[in-house]
Amino acid sequence: MSTKIAIIGAGGMAQHHAAGFQQAGADIVALADVNQIAAERVAKSFGIGRVFPTLAAVLAAVPDLDAVSIIVPNKFHAPLALEALAAGKHVFCEKPPALNAREALRMKAAAEKAKRTLMFNFNNRARPESYAMRDYLADGTIGRINTCQAKWIRRTGIPGFGGWFTTKALSGGGPLIDLLHMVDLGMHFMGYPEPEYILARTFDEHIRDKTFKGPWSIPDVANGVTDVEAAAHGFVTFATGQALSFQVSWAEMNKREEVSVTFQGQKAGGLVQRLFGIDGVDSTSIDACELYVQEHGRSVNRAIVVPPDPAMGRVRSAMNFIRTIEGTELPLNTPDQAVSLMKIIDGAYKSAATGRPVAL
Ligand SMILES: NC(=O)c1ccc[n+]([C@@H]2O[C@H](COP(=O)([O-])OP(=O)(O)OC[C@H]3O[C@@H](n4cnc5c(N)ncnc54)[C@H](O)[C@@H]3O)[C@@H](O)[C@H]2O)c1
Repeated sequence: MSTKIAIIGAGGMAQHHAAGFQQAGADIVALADVNQIAAERVAKSFGIGRVFPTLAAVLAAVPDLDAVSIIVPNKFHAPLALEALAAGKHVFCEKPPALNAREALRMKAAAEKAKRTLMFNFNNRARPESYAMRDYLADGTIGRINTCQAKWIRRTGIPGFGGWFTTKALSGGGPLIDLLHMVDLGMHFMGYPEPEYILARTFDEHIRDKTFKGPWSIPDVANGVTDVEAAAHGFVTFATGQALSFQVSWAEMNKREEVSVTFQGQKAGGLVQRLFGIDGVDSTSIDACELYVQEHGRSVNRAIVVPPDPAMGRVRSAMNFIRTIEGTELPLNTPDQAVSLMKIIDGAYKSAATGRPVAL
């Protein structure tokens, strides 16, 4: 029998979740959004029969539901996940896991109590490049990764002014929390070591400058709040001796949008990268997956060829959730990892606010 899933939130990401769930053979039985027009539109395009205003209404109307997918502004991730887990449903939640590590810990505890799967949409782990790189990590080609550089940098990529993205109370922060994917991917390749210390700085010069607005037509909200950073830079050390540096930005004087993890392993270095032609516009993007080795006294660069995935793993990641709860695949991420990642985000904001290194 097909897994029965409901989607909560009919925004931009819903199409990827819906495609992934359906390709994995799940039955999307309901969609909820406080905006009924948005809900009807997405439901229609994916043939989803029932539309509701809230998760509570879905849970009341569909008692045999197996799972819930949460695709709403970050502030509502933890409360909706807790509500779904308390009702005994598996949860697939968009990134960031929550507003902070405290909330992520509560979600992890709730999943353990309910004995249900809790996963997050770290879709970059589901990119073909990441699957390929994991093969070289598993077969020992790379060895232990000592150091890693994680980047998601934009030049003019502010997702609108005054909406939920730029309101810290709703989003938890700016690019540091929004573009946390590459820190996650770098740590994933490193074996998710326990973070020990962090030193970080945030910058906000351009966060109210309309010329730095991104190209996604996200409407500005007149009299809305814009109180988040425009860029963040930091350095994390791990109990294992490994280290990771990061650069994330919505608005910063960079040449072009770059999404990348570069690492230096004991036996090989490597890179997983997307270079966007223009901030946020996929059609001109260039993806790379490379290994750097020393062979016969020479430096050798290996280009790993994988099928293109313009969706950056978003569909495959949703498929992995369904296959995980059906027991045919292992989960691409765990609640423990989400808590570690949120500790790094919390520590980065604390370090930036105090100007001091923070023990995690
Ligand atoms: N993985 C990725 O690549 C990726 C990309 C973009 C956004 N996201 C994440 O997806 C989430 C949603 O982002 P978006 O861009 O789709 O936002 P959006 O603003 O486009 O859509 C959010 C939708 O949620 C609805 N909503 C808000 N609160 C609700 C509630 N309590 N119950 C039901 N519906 C509610 C809104 O009406 C809206 O339609 C965010 O957490 C964001 O970080 C992930």
